[in-house]
Amino acid sequence: MSCCSINGLDKMFNESNAAKELKKYRSQGPSGPTKTFLAFFGQEQVTGKTLLDIGGGVGIIQHELMKKGIRNAISVEASPAYNNASQLEAEAQGHENKIDYYMGDFITYSSQLPTTDVVTLDKVICCYPNGEDLVSKSLVLSNEYYGLVYPSDNILIKLGASLLNFYKKLTKNDYRSYVHSRKKIHSLVQSNGFNKIFESRSGFMMIEVYKKRADE
Ligand SMILES: C[S@@+](CC[C@H](N)C(=O)[O-])C[C@H]1O[C@@H](n2cnc3c(N)ncnc32)[C@H](O)[C@@H]1O
Repeated sequence: MSCCSINGLDKMFNESNAAKELKKYRSQGPSGPTKTFLAFFGQEQVTGKTLLDIGGGVGIIQHELMKKGIRNAISVEASPAYNNASQLEAEAQGHENKIDYYMGDFITYSSQLPTTDVVTLDKVICCYPNGEDLVSKSLVLSNEYYGLVYPSDNILIKLGASLLNFYKKLTKNDYRSYVHSRKKIHSLVQSNGFNKIFESRSGFMMIEVYKKRADE
């Protein structure tokens, strides 16, 4: 897929924003919920393992988990600008040969991808209308850990998302934010053989890590 315009993602996650995020990451390192999420993973959990990072943006999860010992990674990113920025940073950090890049909507690639030990979606399901589809198709690709960062679904956050979406509509911007039901996501992940082993909050974002049950 050469370009991706699903849900206005390519305009929202454009070259200018990619450059800003890369600059911020280079000067400050990971921040906010991404930092909390990464702090959960120690070297003992990831050394020698494989990663699938969906909607990785400029690739912060990939770059940081590489430093902790991830062997190989797959990146699936819908925005061409973020995909390029992520590859540029992988080259700068010297691990570009350990990452396979897929540019486009994860849903279109999901049936072709191999399973990996760790699957991550950091602030991704909130950009996608069918969050449950994204979760169910990515879950089955995890052999061990499944990590999600996504907005809490309380009434204030839903209201905020509605106002933001209304503003986007008024300004003819196709991008929309989605607040998916935490309860539905939790039961979907759990019923597919995972237990929640970590939960934290950073601002209005929830950080959750699940681990596949031994009997699955
Ligand atoms: C809010 S950004 C988060 C980026 C990064 N994970 C981070 O936390 O810094 C969401 C990213 O998910 C990507 N994305 C959203 N839906 C996607 C999909 N269905 N397939 C692949 N990428 C997707 C967007 O292009 C964007 O780069």
